[in-house]
Amino acid sequence: MMMREGQATAIHRQDYAPPAYWIDTVELTFDLDPAKTRVLNKMRLRRNPQVPAQALRLDGEELNLARVLVNGAGTSFKMDGGQLVLENLPEGDEPFELEIFTTCAPDKNTQLSGLYVSEGTFFTQCEAQGFRRITYFLDRPDVMATYSVLLRADKAAYPVLLSNGNLVESGELEDGRHFARWHDPHRKPSYLFALVAGKLVAREQKIKSRSGAEHLLQVWVRAGDLHKTEHAMNSLMASIAWDEARFGLPLDLERFMIVATSDFNMGAMENKGLNIFNTKYVLASPATATDTDFAHIESVVGHEYFHNWTGNRVTCRDWFQLSLKEGLTVFRDQEFSMDMAGSPSARAVKRIEDVRVLRTVQFPEDAGPQAHPVRPDSYVEINNFYTVTIYEKGAEVVRMQHNLVGREGFARGMKLYFERHDGQAVTCDDFAQAMADANPDSELARRLDQFKRWYSQAGTPRVRAEGSYDAQSQIYTLTLSQSCAPTPGQPDKQPFVIPVALGLLAPDGRALPLQLEGEPEAGATERTVVLAEARQSLRFVNVPEPPVPSLLRGFSAPVLLECDYSDEDLLLMLAHDGDAFNRWEAGQRLMLRAALRQLGADDSKPAGPLLPPALVEALRAVLNHPQLDPAFKDLVLTVPSETYIAEQLDEVDPQRIHALREAMRLELATALRGDWAAAWEAHRDTGAYRPDPLSAGRRALAGTALAMLCLAACQEGDPVWPGKAYQRFKDAGNMTDRFNALSALVVCGHELAQPALERFHALFRGDALVIDKWFALQASAPDRGGRALPAVRQLMQHPDFQLRNPNRARSVVFSYCNANPGGFHRADGAGYAFWAEQVLALDALNPQVAARLARSLDRWARLAEPYRAAARAAIERVAGHDGLSNDVREVVTRALG
Ligand code: ARG
Ligand code: ZN
Repeated sequence: MMMREGQATAIHRQDYAPPAYWIDTVELTFDLDPAKTRVLNKMRLRRNPQVPAQALRLDGEELNLARVLVNGAGTSFKMDGGQLVLENLPEGDEPFELEIFTTCAPDKNTQLSGLYVSEGTFFTQCEAQGFRRITYFLDRPDVMATYSVLLRADKAAYPVLLSNGNLVESGELEDGRHFARWHDPHRKPSYLFALVAGKLVAREQKIKSRSGAEHLLQVWVRAGDLHKTEHAMNSLMASIAWDEARFGLPLDLERFMIVATSDFNMGAMENKGLNIFNTKYVLASPATATDTDFAHIESVVGHEYFHNWTGNRVTCRDWFQLSLKEGLTVFRDQEFSMDMAGSPSARAVKRIEDVRVLRTVQFPEDAGPQAHPVRPDSYVEINNFYTVTIYEKGAEVVRMQHNLVGREGFARGMKLYFERHDGQAVTCDDFAQAMADANPDSELARRLDQFKRWYSQAGTPRVRAEGSYDAQSQIYTLTLSQSCAPTPGQPDKQPFVIPVALGLLAPDGRALPLQLEGEPEAGATERTVVLAEARQSLRFVNVPEPPVPSLLRGFSAPVLLECDYSDEDLLLMLAHDGDAFNRWEAGQRLMLRAALRQLGADDSKPAGPLLPPALVEALRAVLNHPQLDPAFKDLVLTVPSETYIAEQLDEVDPQRIHALREAMRLELATALRGDWAAAWEAHRDTGAYRPDPLSAGRRALAGTALAMLCLAACQEGDPVWPGKAYQRFKDAGNMTDRFNALSALVVCGHELAQPALERFHALFRGDALVIDKWFALQASAPDRGGRALPAVRQLMQHPDFQLRNPNRARSVVFSYCNANPGGFHRADGAGYAFWAEQVLALDALNPQVAARLARSLDRWARLAEPYRAAARAAIERVAGHDGLSNDVREVVTRALG
């Protein structure tokens, strides 16, 4: 068991105070040794004249302190709650020098925060508060310093020595050791510090930016992985070109490095000039990575690169402002992926995928015990606030600003933001203010204070739309109203500013020109109205026929939209809506409606088919449509997830939802059998592998078709399609096709699944990322007669399993707890007991990862019995454990409310 530094209490945004000291320069000297690394930290500090004189309190965690010198002489100090406190510092505003000598033990660091060892290589992770595990420091983002770093290590074991900025010199030392000296010309907060030391090789690329400056790009990996770095390098070059073209933001470094590690808590980290990545978001070859992996790499490489401006050049004043950099940077990476995708239809597919994540992960968070505003008011452990609300909802809040000021206006706002704040640590208010000030005539500027409620109020607003048509006057009245349910600590909500993009469809599907009462003539067929009151009415004139309103196009705001559409209205939109997002949404609403109808029925055995025949025919038409993109068809033909269905209910019976969704899938598989077979034939060959959205979409649709055909076949004991899937599994020319075939067999439970899984493991035994997929597929495989949990326990006995590697823990434990609702929610509560056991086991190794797993039961209070009581008991069991980390304690305390 690790040492816990005592129970932390909540930190409040309102308590922010500027630092009492500034640190101007930092010189770090590392003697790297896995068991005992020595760190000499020489800083130049000065008092902050704006703050009353007080002691210097430096943060530190799990450090051994050897020596403290002030201006070269010994000094008195004391320790207080882990902080190093210096009271007798030189008077006055003159800078002084502080030298601190500490040691730490990277090989004991299983938390992967601070300095740690992964497969014999040293890595750091300092965001949010890892730097204090390396040396004593003012470990807060508003303290920005210039760093020089000297690395010394054994040359044979650690031939490559990297840190932020530029390499100044390197050379040999005695006893087989060597050194490298790095200097970063950009001031930065401590969370952006990084070092890497080990046996690595690099793919290199020289580029010239628009200004003519030369830059060296490097992707560093282990020796056997070099052939898997091409896509990451291409993504990096594309990111650099995109940021320059779209926002005029150039690369400001001579050298930009990406390094991959297989032990990483999150996706990746934007350390200045030295991004450190989870291997999952760097390594890809057609044989080992799926289309989804390729797409994730492009977006994560983009994300971390874009942080160089939104995060690094302008950073956060305090951690409550985290969404300032994360929401904005997610928005930027989403736009990057859309611009890369090209066609309007591929853009829409990306938008639908992003909204799906928002609605299945963020909406539940916003409706549950961990709900918090995009700019939170308090936290116990900041690592618990790297959430979908901060990231994805934060990106939606930026997107709404983009939509309110337009594309050009947004670029102007970004320009002003950098003119004002380059080199500073600022707040979410500063960003919104720059956007508004650059667009003084916009709806954003007019309503800025009200708009900013998106930053301060938690919860997903509900928008109700009611339309009425008067044939006599040809006026269509649309009444929009909004409300937002209470969230923890926020019982009452004020109205939000909600941009609603909309159009009106005539009964034949035509888009009607829009003319509001008082306007001289009809305008375009789509416009954005702003809902800012609790209730508002819009009167459209010269509407010749009763229209169907297509609302919230492109998901123009992160809200729940309620509208009493008839099935016919939705079928019309599914067939004709000019907005691809709403076309997809109409199909989802119809399927959801069918699911809720059945769940509302007393009888759990449906009398007839679950899906109305008209819906099945409409889906058939989409599947066979000659023009629609395969990727779009695939999304339309996917039944809403169990989580999304559950979110619509006040009381959730996960087993009933699971059985119902499976039954709906089987109906779709059987009813469209011939069409699936045709889709498979039409899309199965995509030629030489390229990860572009169009060919990826073809593979996705072929994969779904094969899965559906196997599902129908297994039901009837027909061996043909499972046989074809097995053949495909063996012959596939790329991982996407191979894995889709394997998963079709596993999901339908065919006996060929076992030999296929064995073969797959034998083929890829040396490739950790592929073995993660192998574990994840089995841990999330449909439960048959309660066998999922024993299967998961069995997987954890496999020699390749280890809990301490986060990717591997996620592939088994998280896949079961989060992606296998039918297997996890057992009436006997054994799934929840397993969860409690794993949360505690992980907490002893890695509190950040444990706290993520602890979130699996967030929505326990809505479960029906017997699930509810069993889930509560499991959470109480975790909460009652002695020596919990602050991370897990905060999560379970909130869960129990
Ligand atoms: N800033 C990183 C990213 O967006 C995430 C790092 C978070 N790390 C952590 N331990 N909380 O991309
Ligand atoms: Zn980020």
